[in-house]
Amino acid sequence: MQLEITGLRSGYGKVQILHGVDLTVPPREITAVLGPNGAGKSTLMKTIAGHLPVMAGEIRYRGNSLVGHTALSICKEGIGFVPQDHNVFPSLTVRDNLHASSLAFEGADERVAEVLRRFPILAERANQAASTLSGGERQTLAIALALVAGPDILILDEPTAGLAPIFVDRIVSWVRELAEEGMGVVWVVEQNPEKILAISETAYVIDAGRNSEILEARSLLAPGRLEEVLLQVQE
Ligand SMILES: Nc1ncnc2c1ncn2[C@@H]1O[C@H](COP(=O)(O)OP(=O)(O)OP(=O)(O)O)[C@@H](O)[C@H]1O
Ligand SMILES: [Mg+2]
Repeated sequence: MQLEITGLRSGYGKVQILHGVDLTVPPREITAVLGPNGAGKSTLMKTIAGHLPVMAGEIRYRGNSLVGHTALSICKEGIGFVPQDHNVFPSLTVRDNLHASSLAFEGADERVAEVLRRFPILAERANQAASTLSGGERQTLAIALALVAGPDILILDEPTAGLAPIFVDRIVSWVRELAEEGMGVVWVVEQNPEKILAISETAYVIDAGRNSEILEARSLLAPGRLEEVLLQVQE
C-alpha cells in the first residue's frame, strides 16, 4: 500500500513553509527527496510523521487520512520516522533506548531481538549510553528505534550525513534490504547522494516549500546532472 501526500501545506506557528507538496511513497522502493538547505525537506517529513500540524492538503495511507492524527497514532499506522536531529535518548543505554521505544507497540520485544540481530554493532554496544556512540552507531540506533515499532513505511531524514564511508555503505545496504523485504522508504538525501540515488526509484526535488522536479533517481547520476538540477532551483 502506498503513502500518498497531496497539496501538503504546513509550517511553524503562523509561518507557512510548505506551499502544496505532493509525494508518493510506494512499497518495496526507496524514494529520494533532495533540495537545497532550508527547502522544507525536514518540515515535510515532520509533518507526515505528525510532529507538525497540517495546514491543508492530504496524507493518505491504507485508505485513511492521517491528517490530525498524533505522532504516536501515525507510528501505529505503520509510518516510522528517523528525524534529522535528536533521534536517540543520549543518557540511556542502547538497550534502554530500544526498550523505551518498544513500550507503546505490540510485539515489540520480538522486534528488539530482531534489530539486535540485524545490527550486531548495537548488540555489542547494548550496555553503553547512546551519548558514547560514534555518529554511525548512533544513526544505526536511531533507525533501530524506528524499526522497533514495526513500520511498513520508513522515513529517513539525512541518516548518513557526515558519517564515515563504511557506515554510509552499511546503512545503504541495510535500507536496501528493508526495501527488498517490502518496506516503502523515503530517504532525504544529503550532500553526496550518489550511493543512495543509485538504489532509489524516484527522486523528488523540493525547493522553497514546493515540488520542483520529479525524476527517475538514476537519471541524476549522469555527469553534471545533479549539479544542474540543484543549481537550477537556486537561481
Ligand atoms: N522550528 C522551527 N521554527 C521556525 N522555522 C523553522 C523551524 N525549523 C525550520 N524552520 C524554517 O523552515 C524552513 C525549512 O526548513 P527545513 O528544516 O524543513 O529545511 P531542510 O530542507 O530540511 O534543510 P536542510 O537541508 O538544512 O536540512 C527554513 O526556512 C527554516 O528556517
Ligand atoms: Mg533538513
